[in-house]
Amino acid sequence: MPKVFVTRPIPRTGLQLLVDAFGKASVTVSPHDRVITREELLAGVKGVDGLLPILTDTVDAAVMNAAGPQLKIIANFAVGYDNIDVAAATKRNIAVTNTPGVLTDTTADLAWAILMCVARRISESERCLRAGKWAGWGPQFMLGVDVHGKTLGIFGMGRIGRAVARRAAGFGMRIIYHDSARLEEAAEKHLNATYVAKETLVTESDFISIHVPFLPETTHAFGAAELKAMKKTACLINTSRGPIVDEAELASALKAGEIFAAGLDVYEQEPKVHPALLECENAVLVPHLGSASRDTRGKMAEIAAGNIVALLKGETPPNCVNPEVL
Ligand code: DGY
Repeated sequence: MPKVFVTRPIPRTGLQLLVDAFGKASVTVSPHDRVITREELLAGVKGVDGLLPILTDTVDAAVMNAAGPQLKIIANFAVGYDNIDVAAATKRNIAVTNTPGVLTDTTADLAWAILMCVARRISESERCLRAGKWAGWGPQFMLGVDVHGKTLGIFGMGRIGRAVARRAAGFGMRIIYHDSARLEEAAEKHLNATYVAKETLVTESDFISIHVPFLPETTHAFGAAELKAMKKTACLINTSRGPIVDEAELASALKAGEIFAAGLDVYEQEPKVHPALLECENAVLVPHLGSASRDTRGKMAEIAAGNIVALLKGETPPNCVNPEVL
């Protein structure tokens, strides 16, 4: 029977699929409900045919070599797979899979939750209340910015960007977007979204929501220049990957009042957060919860496990990101 290693306990339904397919003895789950150490990962992968890592595990050539030549699939528990060296996997004929689709709406919901918190200063005002500092209703107390009728700039109009755009309809927002590729005219019409250059998105948006993948060309796509060019009343929201925003520059911009506020779900060096950001009252800081609903995490577990079962049973895994190996 093929052997499978799961690097952290995942929802039961996913594990059950693996156990049903290969038997209990074939499936090893790291016993620690924490990020696995490098040593534990290198030891855990030895001799396995399938690896189910989570997005905080770095799966590079050394991990693949430690597993051995029988490793056939790395089924990431995430839609993003920047933690996996796909080129190294492809070179070794190892399939890499992800969990797309299922977390689109859940992540878009969180982007909106953060957007609303940022605009209306929900975290900051609750901190004030809990600290016993609220002196009662005031005409100028904790004033935020309106969301309805404003311009939403979506940076990256993939699945999640489009789901964020759909939610904006109820707020009567003008939607502009930028991406490396433009949507079909019909899709733009359906979403009521206008394609603009990145510079236009940066200067005209009241809210910018980031939904591009982490790639060399998207690294620090929002740095000093972009933050300076944004409206002073604008808000920046990132639920994609941390390195797309330069955290040090963001903290400076927030402190200097160059933008109104920011909301982050992702960070450059998770779980570390730039200390200067922690000092910013106008930053809403969420611990990478984009897909963190019970339903969605359950489905992600099933999809990741399903990819392993399919491949190790000789079928095509539904979510392969390097299909050339199949
Ligand atoms: C993903 O799947 O890439 C998300 O970041 C998980 O929350």
